[in-house]
Amino acid sequence: MTHVKIVEVGPRDGLQNEKQIVPAAVKLELIRRLADSGLRAIEAGAFVSPKWVPQMADSAEVLAALDPSGSVAYPALVPNDKGLEAALAAGAREIAVFGAASESFSRKNINASIADSLKRFESVVRAALDAGLKVRGYVSCAIACPYEGRIAPGKVAEVAAALSDLGCYEISLGDTIGVGTPASVRAMLDAVQKAVPAEQLAGHFHDTYGMAIANIRAALDAGLRVFDASVAGLGGCPYARGASGNVATEDVAYLLAGEGYRTGIDLSKLVGAAWYIADALGKPPASRLAHALGR
Ligand code: HMG
Ligand code: MG
Repeated sequence: MTHVKIVEVGPRDGLQNEKQIVPAAVKLELIRRLADSGLRAIEAGAFVSPKWVPQMADSAEVLAALDPSGSVAYPALVPNDKGLEAALAAGAREIAVFGAASESFSRKNINASIADSLKRFESVVRAALDAGLKVRGYVSCAIACPYEGRIAPGKVAEVAAALSDLGCYEISLGDTIGVGTPASVRAMLDAVQKAVPAEQLAGHFHDTYGMAIANIRAALDAGLRVFDASVAGLGGCPYARGASGNVATEDVAYLLAGEGYRTGIDLSKLVGAAWYIADALGKPPASRLAHALGR
């Protein structure tokens, strides 16, 4: 049976977009439950400016409480040298740099042009690799941008190739505002795969228009075997108006099991984690599966 890796991004992508600040203890209990459900990659925080994203201000506390030497990877977002310094001090063993295929989004999200961001990432990735860390790369706006509309697949390929050349082992392609459909996803992946092989790519789909599961099916057909997802469908992006949550991890896990892929996930434990964070936030999970299976 072919294995598909799910990268759980709820504690970062999910919680960064919640109005309320979730205490570190709740984040840690969520992460514990996610790991217990079988997830082996859990994005645990972001070493970004607390003025820009206050929800991630306690990432050092969260990372420091996790065991980075075990079987679960806990990557954290890092935008610059200062973020890397903080990530290393907190004991991170894996980081992710995050760029975009849209100039306007890049400036709004990290206050840098695409070219300047890649220059910035060069020193971050080099120092991280020298310190023995694994480095993942993100390309936001892989389908469209909230400010510029459709993004040319060739531009996505260009930024993905640049991140791969810097030394990122995996490039996650983000449909940041969830407008993609299987046809646009196929066109984007066709272009990107001319520059970066499918084995090095991950799909990161937001579910704003309810297309994320169909888009994952299309990406599986294109050869991708890594998908980012967020428990209970939490998520969004504070610098992308209208971006709703990531596709829910439990819905993705259900799809993959049904299609005959192995994920190592215990669905009932995962659904338990979804209800745990939904209760902590005081709102129902956004996934279908959490409601279908109940508590
Ligand atoms: P800036 O204002 O240009 O930074 O922000 P600066 O270098 O001019 O510094 C300004 C202040 O920020 C200084 O503090 C720095 O020390 C501080 P002050 O002197 O004013 O007190 N600072 C920092 N503090 C903590 N950690 C740092 C850091 N760097 C500077 N690392 C910066 C540039 C990149 C920092 C800012 O724009 C930022 O933090 N952006 C992050 C935005 C973000 O987290 N967005 C969400 C994640 S991306 C996403 O969700 C998309 C994704 O899911 C994929 C998809 O869906 O498409 C990944
Ligand atoms: Mg995202």
